[in-house]
Amino acid sequence: MKASGRVDVVVPAVAVLGEGPVWDATQRRLIWVDIEGCTLHRYDPVSREDQTVTTSGRIGCAAPRRGGGLVLAMEHTLAVTDRFDGDVEVIATVEPAAPTRMNDGNCDSAGRFYAGTMALDERAPVGALYRLDPDGAVERILGDVTVSNGIDWSLDGETMFYVDSASQSVDAFDFDVTAGRISNRRPLVRFTVDEGIPDGLTVDAEGCVWVALWGGSSVRRYTSGGELERVVRLPAQHITSAAFGGDLLDELYVTSAREGLSESELDAQPEAGALFRCRTGIVGRAQHVYAG
Ligand code: BGC
Ligand code: CA
Repeated sequence: MKASGRVDVVVPAVAVLGEGPVWDATQRRLIWVDIEGCTLHRYDPVSREDQTVTTSGRIGCAAPRRGGGLVLAMEHTLAVTDRFDGDVEVIATVEPAAPTRMNDGNCDSAGRFYAGTMALDERAPVGALYRLDPDGAVERILGDVTVSNGIDWSLDGETMFYVDSASQSVDAFDFDVTAGRISNRRPLVRFTVDEGIPDGLTVDAEGCVWVALWGGSSVRRYTSGGELERVVRLPAQHITSAAFGGDLLDELYVTSAREGLSESELDAQPEAGALFRCRTGIVGRAQHVYAG
């Protein structure tokens, strides 16, 4: 098994709960969010500037939208925006009265956006996974979810990889790209509590799955068969998600959290809450965008 390459801090430890890195190829920016800090970020690797905008409520994730702009999973809504000023157009309301909030999401190759909810107490399976179609229709495609997290697809698009963090596993589903439906759930990788809690994930250009480990100070790369191939260690305990970016998609961006750490842990991990960038020698594949 290979060890990690170099890790740089590209944005210092500003995030309470840094999450959802995604490369916006049109804008040539790395979009990411601070869920608990109610902040949408966009990092420009050329100027090294990280622009921020405050959102009205917690923001679970964002993804690029065809023609510019973003699709967003906010506290209890799915929304779109064409600007980077905090103003959004709500498309649908999700679980308005439930003790949940929107969390991670991603787009499939047909331009649909998927995002799920998590129980605020991270215990009860009261959340779900939703599909937002380009025409604005919303369908609940999976129930009994406790902490909906990373989502991505195999290179042939026929398998969806998905994390409900409470299950301590990365699962695979058969994916019907014509209908946007999932079936035949099975675990791909299981994690012990000592390894950490599986959180965000991304699939690279070789079809391998990179999984961020909350409490595990690392991102791990698994083959599509579930074999551990390498570990990238990071100087923060709560690693939340990873995505390839840069014009060549050869930079692995990794988000982290300050949330859930004691004062002494924060003193020992001054970089917790930073956006990291790693050179791994592996490239990502082009990010799918929302076609609505
Ligand atoms: C959630 C956090 C949660 C973590 C581990 C993240 O995606 O946003 O609130 O603590 O997963 O379950
Ligand atoms: Ca997450």
